[in-house]
Amino acid sequence: MTDKPTMTTTAGAPIADNQNSLSAGERGPLLMQDYQLLEKLAHQNRERIPERTVHAKGWGAYGTLTITGDISQYTKAKCLQPGAQTPMLARFSTVAGELGAADAERDVRGFALKFYTEEGNWDLVGNNTPVFFIRDPYKFPDFIHTQKRHPRTNMRSPTAMWDFWSLSPESLHQVTILMSDRGLPVGVRNVNGYGSHTFSFINAAGERFWVKFHFKTLQGHKHWTNAEGEQVVGKNRETTQEDLYNAIEGGDFPKWKMQVQVMPEEDAGKHWYNPFDLTKVWPHADYPPIDIGVFELNRNPDNYFAEIEQAAFSPSNIIPGIGFSPDKMLQARIFSYADAHRYRLGTHYEHLPVNAAKCPVHHYHKDGPMRFFPQMTGNVNAYYEPNSFGGATQDPSFAEPPLKISGDADRYNHRDGNDDYRQPGDLFRLFDVGQRARLCSNIAAAMAGVPSEIIERQLVHFDRADPAYGAGVRLALAEAHGYEPNAIPVDAATPQEAAE
Ligand code: HEM
Repeated sequence: MTDKPTMTTTAGAPIADNQNSLSAGERGPLLMQDYQLLEKLAHQNRERIPERTVHAKGWGAYGTLTITGDISQYTKAKCLQPGAQTPMLARFSTVAGELGAADAERDVRGFALKFYTEEGNWDLVGNNTPVFFIRDPYKFPDFIHTQKRHPRTNMRSPTAMWDFWSLSPESLHQVTILMSDRGLPVGVRNVNGYGSHTFSFINAAGERFWVKFHFKTLQGHKHWTNAEGEQVVGKNRETTQEDLYNAIEGGDFPKWKMQVQVMPEEDAGKHWYNPFDLTKVWPHADYPPIDIGVFELNRNPDNYFAEIEQAAFSPSNIIPGIGFSPDKMLQARIFSYADAHRYRLGTHYEHLPVNAAKCPVHHYHKDGPMRFFPQMTGNVNAYYEPNSFGGATQDPSFAEPPLKISGDADRYNHRDGNDDYRQPGDLFRLFDVGQRARLCSNIAAAMAGVPSEIIERQLVHFDRADPAYGAGVRLALAEAHGYEPNAIPVDAATPQEAAE
């Protein structure tokens, strides 16, 4: 007798021997009836699910959001009222690398938050950057293809990346951030997070405001240079995992200050920038960030696969008081994530413990694989709606105010009249001499092996953001690869421009 529990089959029967398979004679072949051997092999074959098509490599933890500010005039969301405390899950990630990728890579960091509120789960699936590479979701699969492996070489392709970026001037803002110091953070405790998109706030009077969410690291920003990153990866591929896990395990809980920028609904049309364009920030001078609280990560998951790999974040998860906006990228993401989860995790992924809401849930979805939860309709005889058996019903008090829209249905050219250079130029001008030099040399390093016509096309974009930006990259290219930029200026950066 031991004080350890007895090992059992998955059906609960005790197991007498977990060391020796069942054979016909000591040296003979194995028997079909050794169903535990078959079970073990069969289960091992099913230990993997598809990795996320993007953001596959990630690190996560649980925590608490505490609201200290008062923004009740803008939103009725209960979890954002003064004094509210909400349990939450965070998953950080790199975007392009696969599940086994090294942590210390130059890449955008995903910053996905799930707040288990009393009004349902609210997911903010953001990044450590306030903007993105594209503004029309039609281009998302194309963009991601350029970040992934080349079909023939099976290697990542700088040519594909710069080809796409140079043909998509709206990417310049995000490319500038990616190639700057912030593109290679020491760990995710040292990055800011941004909801990035514009969302709606809806207050108790049914008024809508536009809002952007920011999370500022209280651990300070820390970055590696490319050379440091290479050294680090040579010794340890799991630096972010180690840093986050050890900090939380040791009681050094990372914290982020939560801020919002709020825009009155009617302001949306009055700026030179479209506030629903994900490649633009709202200048702080126009809409100063308001401090509203802090979140802290204070508990490591017990099982990474169950709680982090199976975590399903979706921008479609909103709650009363928080709504969407016309941002085209957000609109597509509202569809894409739940679709990805049904494929990656299964039909009823929202009933997995890590994804399950912590408030009462009542819906009429019925059967399907892994239907393991009780009927959620509020009455066993109510499996359709409307019904006469006391099943859950809609509540019109949660309706959002109508959203004003105008115009003809068409495929509008999102580049028409759009200034893609002003904000990247402003960002470049904010950098000090050292930051500019590292930005330019990181770009030059990332352009190794890229055909000169693509480099020339991209140089035009840098020039247009700021002539010193273009000049800095030319110098860095000359130093890094002896590259001699074409003396003939290129006027048209994209085929579209050339055609105009
Ligand atoms: C993950 C689609 C843009 C942040 C994913 C996944 C998909 C996806 C399919 C994998 C989901 C899964 O399997 O669990 C898209 C599409 C986009 C888009 C279609 C644009 C049209 C963005 C933007 C951001 C973002 C703009 C940030 C502002 C993330 C993050 C994850 C993710 C953080 C990982 C979530 C996690 O930790 O599980 N995206 N994405 N994505 N995306 Fe996007």
